Amino acid sequence: MALVDAHLPVVQAERLDSYLRDIPRLIVPRGEGSKTLSHLEGFANDLLALGLGRDGLLVALGGGVTGDLCGTLAASYFRGIPFIQIPTTLLAQIDSSVGGKVAVNLQGAKNAMGYFHQPRAVIADLAFLDTLEAREKRAGFAEMIKMAAIADESLLDTLESKLDSLLTKSGAELEAAIERSCILKAKVVEQDERESGLREILNFGHTLGHAVESSGLEPTWLHGECVALGMVAALSLGDLLNMGESGMLARMENLLRAADLPVRLPRNLSPERILETLSHDKKAREGKSRWVLLENWAQPRWGLDVPEKALLQVLDQLRS
Ligand SMILES: NC(=O)c1ccc[n+]([C@@H]2O[C@H](COP(=O)([O-])OP(=O)(O)OC[C@H]3O[C@@H](n4cnc5c(N)ncnc54)[C@H](O)[C@@H]3O)[C@@H](O)[C@H]2O)c1
Ligand SMILES: [Zn+2]
Repeated sequence: MALVDAHLPVVQAERLDSYLRDIPRLIVPRGEGSKTLSHLEGFANDLLALGLGRDGLLVALGGGVTGDLCGTLAASYFRGIPFIQIPTTLLAQIDSSVGGKVAVNLQGAKNAMGYFHQPRAVIADLAFLDTLEAREKRAGFAEMIKMAAIADESLLDTLESKLDSLLTKSGAELEAAIERSCILKAKVVEQDERESGLREILNFGHTLGHAVESSGLEPTWLHGECVALGMVAALSLGDLLNMGESGMLARMENLLRAADLPVRLPRNLSPERILETLSHDKKAREGKSRWVLLENWAQPRWGLDVPEKALLQVLDQLRS
């Protein structure tokens, strides 16, 4: 049985058919709104009605939303059945399909109900990316920059030097960058599957990123766009706290600007609102948010508490 993002039959009908043939498809409505317990229940009832047993297999075909929903379904249906990920967005190919975290959202709490449930296989077919909107591709690219920043400076060099080609073509260069990103993420996950330590480095840029994402900002920003700004915030904090090597912030800002990703806070989002959202972050401990900062490229430190004064100063800087 397959869960398929609703937009794929519109833009990738042939490719979809070639993967699924006559496997029954359940259509997942587009967007984050599908990652809910009620969708989970609805799809579980569909599987039951269609006669899928505990020996069944699920296939997720779509972006991170479909992958997360399908993975959560697979992890819970009859206490867990296997699933395969066929990610169709750049973000899903390099990030959400790798590592086994699957979840749905509760109201106001992203990814609050979920599991660690590894897919049996991940098939990243670059041809799916041909129909992806440019803005979605750039948002996925932000996660690639994150992976490079925390784990591989040579990947960062590549992202800078091949930027145009990576953002506009689906050729060998993009394939190599996707493969490298997946290997880097898998290496981290292998060492700390359940995020009791090292895996936290994958949250670089996500502390502020999540706060912006769940701040109620209108018009909304994509996850990767929030992460882009979050990386600038983390490097600015590093500068302020004399932690990172000099020049890192400027290099990151240049790359993000070149990729047309945001590096400044929107005017209509106040530092107070961000601070409030940060204290509700699910990764916060005792109301204090936890940060990943970089001592240098590929030298992250995680689980850091940051003085509120420094944070306010950085937020102010990011509004200018
Ligand atoms: N599990 C994890 O480890 C993990 C990691 C990062 C992000 N996530 C989750 O991933 C989700 C974001 O993923 P996303 O950015 O892929 O979003 P998404 O699944 O909403 O897809 C983005 C958009 O692209 C469309 N789309 C998908 N494939 C397409 C294609 N081939 N051509 C044209 N359009 C296509 C979708 O219809 C959607 O409108 C979030 O819910 C986030 O929480 C999970
Ligand atoms: Zn992310």
